[in-house]
Amino acid sequence: MPPQKIIIDTDPGVDDILALLLALSSSADELQVLLISLTFGNIDIQNVLRNTVAMFHVLELEREWRAQNGKKLGYETLAVHPPIVAVGAEGPLEGELLMADYFHGIDGLGGVHTTAPHFTPQNSWAHLFDREAQLEAGETRKRHVPKNFRPSILPAHREMLRVLREEEEGTVTIVAVGPLTNLALAAEEDLDTFLRAKEVVVMGGTIDMEGNCTPVAEFNHYACAYSAARIYALTSPSPQSTLPPSRSGFTLPTFPSTKRLNLVLFPLDITTMHLLPQITFSDAATPLGEAGSPLANWCSHFIAATYRKMEVLHKDAAGGRRVQDVHLSLHDPMCIYYILTRDDPGWRWRRDRDVRVDATGQWTRGMCVVDRRTRRAVGKEEELVVGDFDRWLHAGFGNRVQQVVGSPEGAEGALGGWLVWRVFGC
Ligand code: RIB
Ligand code: CA
Repeated sequence: MPPQKIIIDTDPGVDDILALLLALSSSADELQVLLISLTFGNIDIQNVLRNTVAMFHVLELEREWRAQNGKKLGYETLAVHPPIVAVGAEGPLEGELLMADYFHGIDGLGGVHTTAPHFTPQNSWAHLFDREAQLEAGETRKRHVPKNFRPSILPAHREMLRVLREEEEGTVTIVAVGPLTNLALAAEEDLDTFLRAKEVVVMGGTIDMEGNCTPVAEFNHYACAYSAARIYALTSPSPQSTLPPSRSGFTLPTFPSTKRLNLVLFPLDITTMHLLPQITFSDAATPLGEAGSPLANWCSHFIAATYRKMEVLHKDAAGGRRVQDVHLSLHDPMCIYYILTRDDPGWRWRRDRDVRVDATGQWTRGMCVVDRRTRRAVGKEEELVVGDFDRWLHAGFGNRVQQVVGSPEGAEGALGGWLVWRVFGC
């Protein structure tokens, strides 16, 4: 069985890093991460890039430490298939730039580059992603290429299209755990190639629970609502019916008659309750950190900072009373967990749900709108229902999203235990 092939579009961020580590902890015949495409989101794109390069640097130190201590090296897929890393969108297609640094910290990783600077590689790596610098460097650049990833000088959305063009159609899954800007740019530039993807697995949105960014919106979809709306529209039998009003200069691509995007959605409704309890993390990472594991020490710095941040946020929410034992929601790792266990019968779905993202509302930017009325959709063009405003009742319109509503491990921290076991090899 050949390894699954994925692209991870991400805005590291604390839980993004845990998702990347979970994916990269795979064996070579389990998973091949073809591309890590970076986007603004939790923090600005420069910090996103530094956080990603720091992760690869720490993984190199970790494998050396494990070899010196007679431990299983792990992260085999990294050694056999070093992923391409490409830098993408610096801001949303439309609207102002919003980041989640209030939660993820000034550098997107709990201040780890300040509290533990010895884990941050010298910034000589920056030129690896700079097209001009690479062209000038010519042959000398080969001496500086890192071992466990391959830097690209292409913009992320073009690298995404290149990978989709070169790989067999229907074999590459895009796992999108940040704002969907890179995906929307790729679809806008070459829709036919973009639709060669097997599926797009999205962490984003909130449907039947409150938002984590505004009362009705989840961060990733709020951060670039236009992109989310455009990507969801690619699931529709008639994409025109749910595309947002075209922004200045955006030309709508002509849609191929047959191909539709297969979108698997992990909204807050399911990701919020898949947890990494503080005790689960510390039981695994503390002894390894004391033994000298670079990975355990690095992660402890930013995970501990995140738990402290959550204690403050929960304390404020609880009217100043200290909240015991906070947990970290594994929003992004949830998507990788699905990739690695997709055949498990424990996954449960709400199939072909008409979920539409609002891109233009004054108070509803990024909201996932669904029809909760009991009226039913009708099947034929001529059976338009009188009063069917915005075509919620016509079977030929609206989006078709595969919403995940249940997982094999259930909630209550089981995923957290599996994640630390895979990431720390304990
Ligand atoms: O709302 C959760 C999402 O926003 C996650 O992807 C997290 O990394 C943040 O980006
Ligand atoms: Ca993210």
